Amino acid sequence: MAEPVRGRLLGLGVGPGDPELITLKSLRLLRGAPVVAYYASKESRGNAFATVESELRAEQILEPLIYPITGKRPPPPYDYELVMRDFYDASAARLAAHLDAGRDVAVLCEGDPFFYGSFMYLHDRLAERYASEVVPGVCSVLASASVLRTPLVYRDQCLLVVAGTLPEEALERQLAGVEAAAIMKLGSNFAKVRRVIARLGLMERARYVERATMDEECIRPLAEVDPASVPYFSMILIPGARWGEQ
Ligand SMILES: C[S@@+](CC[C@H](N)C(=O)[O-])C[C@H]1O[C@@H](n2cnc3c(N)ncnc32)[C@H](O)[C@@H]1O
Repeated sequence: MAEPVRGRLLGLGVGPGDPELITLKSLRLLRGAPVVAYYASKESRGNAFATVESELRAEQILEPLIYPITGKRPPPPYDYELVMRDFYDASAARLAAHLDAGRDVAVLCEGDPFFYGSFMYLHDRLAERYASEVVPGVCSVLASASVLRTPLVYRDQCLLVVAGTLPEEALERQLAGVEAAAIMKLGSNFAKVRRVIARLGLMERARYVERATMDEECIRPLAEVDPASVPYFSMILIPGARWGEQ
């Protein structure tokens, strides 16, 4: 008997927020997919969903993957890593049921799927068992440089990408002597990151943006940002020195 045809796992980068920044390829695969999965919180369907909502068809099956926890983690004995592993296992199993039934599953990915994206945990669990395709997206680092109107790296300059979730000493070690940097995952880590930037004498060069390319986009001088107001979807860029001015 012929093997049943199984569905494909599609990781679709939908860009940083502006719906016009999705690629033609992502849009084509999204429109053709019978199942659309997306990460969401208990309160919100998330940025990736909002970016493509107007493109979805009524017949498409929606699979919201609701994070068990967002924001501040409860103290031990709460085992965050275990909770998240179980969540990704259960999410992968839900998508596998569609794939086994022959339905392609499009997973919406904010920015690019393979750049700090939660899609990677599904890919890790499913891509060896099912055919998959990953469509790159405009990542938030480049979207941020574009809205800040700042070239990011010239010629042979190096770009460091770090997460603001790193401990303060590790951040300081990484950023010391940096030519250009993108510091992601700010939110409640903002005050710590700004302290490090100030200690390293980088305040003049550092640029802050929140929700780049989204309707609520906001650019502020780093020194004036109220740490209590900083959303998760924000970034600090330290652009490389303008070529010829180093
Ligand atoms: C889990 S990572 C996802 C990155 C995404 N896959 C990408 O390609 O940009 C989330 C972090 O990306 C950054 N980010 C994502 N979208 C952003 C936006 N529109 N403006 C500023 N930062 C953004 C923030 O630093 C946020 O904490």
